[in-house]
Amino acid sequence: MLRTKTCGELSLKNIGESVTLCGWIQRMRDMGGMTFLDLRDRYGITQIVFNMETNAALCGQVRGYGRECVIGVSGTVAERSNKNLKIATGEIEILAEKVHLYNRSKTPPFTIETDTDGGDELRMKYRYLDLRRPNVRANLELRHRLGMLIRNYMSGAGFLEIETPFLIKSTPEGARDFVVPSRMNMGEFYALPQSPQTFKQLLMVSGYDKYFQIVRCFRDEDLRADRQPEFTQLDCEMSFVEQDDVLATFEGLVQHLFMAEKGIDIGSLPHITYREAMDKYGSDKPDIRFGMEFVHIKKGLAADASENILPSGKFTVFDNAEWVGGFVARGCAEYTRKQIDELTDFVKRPQIGASGLVWVRRANDGSIKSSIDKFYTPEELKLLADKADMQNGDIMLIMAGIGEKTREQLGTLRLHVADLLGLRSANEYKPLWVVDFPLLEWNDEDKRFYAKHHPFTSPKPEHIPLLDTDPASVNANAYDLVINGVEIGGGSIRIHDRALQKKMFSILGFTDGEAQKQFGFLMDAFEYGAPPHGGIAFGFDRLSSLFGGAESIRDFIAFPKNNSGRDVMIDSPSTISEDQLKELCLTVRN
Ligand code: AMO
Repeated sequence: MLRTKTCGELSLKNIGESVTLCGWIQRMRDMGGMTFLDLRDRYGITQIVFNMETNAALCGQVRGYGRECVIGVSGTVAERSNKNLKIATGEIEILAEKVHLYNRSKTPPFTIETDTDGGDELRMKYRYLDLRRPNVRANLELRHRLGMLIRNYMSGAGFLEIETPFLIKSTPEGARDFVVPSRMNMGEFYALPQSPQTFKQLLMVSGYDKYFQIVRCFRDEDLRADRQPEFTQLDCEMSFVEQDDVLATFEGLVQHLFMAEKGIDIGSLPHITYREAMDKYGSDKPDIRFGMEFVHIKKGLAADASENILPSGKFTVFDNAEWVGGFVARGCAEYTRKQIDELTDFVKRPQIGASGLVWVRRANDGSIKSSIDKFYTPEELKLLADKADMQNGDIMLIMAGIGEKTREQLGTLRLHVADLLGLRSANEYKPLWVVDFPLLEWNDEDKRFYAKHHPFTSPKPEHIPLLDTDPASVNANAYDLVINGVEIGGGSIRIHDRALQKKMFSILGFTDGEAQKQFGFLMDAFEYGAPPHGGIAFGFDRLSSLFGGAESIRDFIAFPKNNSGRDVMIDSPSTISEDQLKELCLTVRN
């Protein structure tokens, strides 16, 4: 070994020991008679002292080294007179006797510190330097710990980790596939898996009744802070289970992770239905760290008008709307005109696309004012404020329009206002299960149904007859794990019957021939004793960033892609040579 100790482990109990450390020069301070050098490795930073009087030659030698040079230092551990109690090794220093230079470093393009001066693009280009920063390293260490906790827990619960292939077959459902041309099968392509879904189901047919895998998945979709084209799932499947068994098993895992990593007892997770989540929060991944639940002012065109809080025939915007609703922001009655304008601009942005925002405030003296004063009587507005449980000092923000779309828009505003009010603390965790998702989703452009989860999800048994009469109303045995407004995991009980699976494909617009060509292997397998089964997959990058208190998953992935799907460090994707193209029978269109 080139070193006897690391830069993070020496303390007062090592005083007098002769040690050799290796690492990178974090910084050097020349104080005339003394030179202080901070030596850094994965484990920490240790101060090294060079004394001009006792060893002028050595002092001269290290003064020629710059930041990030890699050196080995031998010396004696001594107590520091000027202690730094902020770091673990801050009570000692090494009196250097010998230094070996292993490699020089150019001046790095940004400072290798938690608070760096490097911008995003520069840090990604030099990701190997970025990874030296202690905060990024802490993120990867957290990810490693979570991985170990998961593997131990799953193995302890009887799950087997089994690898499934990466070169598989392209399927048209879900996101776009990344495809790989096959040289040996000219003109044919593999696809990289969007998830191991069909393979884990086949493993159930094979009798491996508890499977898991920490596995890379690939999806060619638009990227966001919580989406990468290649990402990692904790993928799981179980046989002979019903929804409650799956939820109980993985609730145990989630509780274990919070306790082991954070010392938090999160207790049992609430269940709310998809319908309830949309109605109360305008989102199927509600953030329940704060209230601000929706008040339904007008429940729908078909609803009984007597259930509406405000009378009709007074304000055309509300009269024409299918749904009118709002939420109360506590203590915000003092919002200025400018603040309200900013909120209105926020909901009018193309990403949200609302036409406007109505407000009602109950001032500190109890008086009620609103942007719809000229349409409704003070009594009508007071009734609204009372029904919405508005206290003095509160404001209600209201939107009107097409039902589900408006609820989603209001849901986005709810999160925005909660952010402004500081109600979304990264250190508070409120996990929940969202259950009873619809099986299908109608797409008006394509005039066809899509699977809300995926085509292998089972309808609720009692809803199977509705597949023929009213498919849109069929609910699935499908569930999501949501924590703090982020979809951390999703799964379902699967179809394990050939006829039902075939029917599902036909509802999704596949001809029998297409279904057989693309998914025949799975339907065929169902004819050889497929057990009832179900499972779930968790986004491992998302879980890591959630535990790390960050929104972006990028800093929890060693070598992530940027928002255009590029790895700017290795400059990928890139063109390939004519020869490679020819060998693969590919031509490039200019
Ligand atoms: P689903 O598509 O819901 O389900 O994915 C499961 C979880 O994976 C995470 N996730 C992502 N994380 C980062 N970047 C992405 N592009 C990305 N896409 C998804 C999310 C999500 O909840 N086979 C099914 C699971 C099953 O039914 O068992 C599946 O893949 O956290």
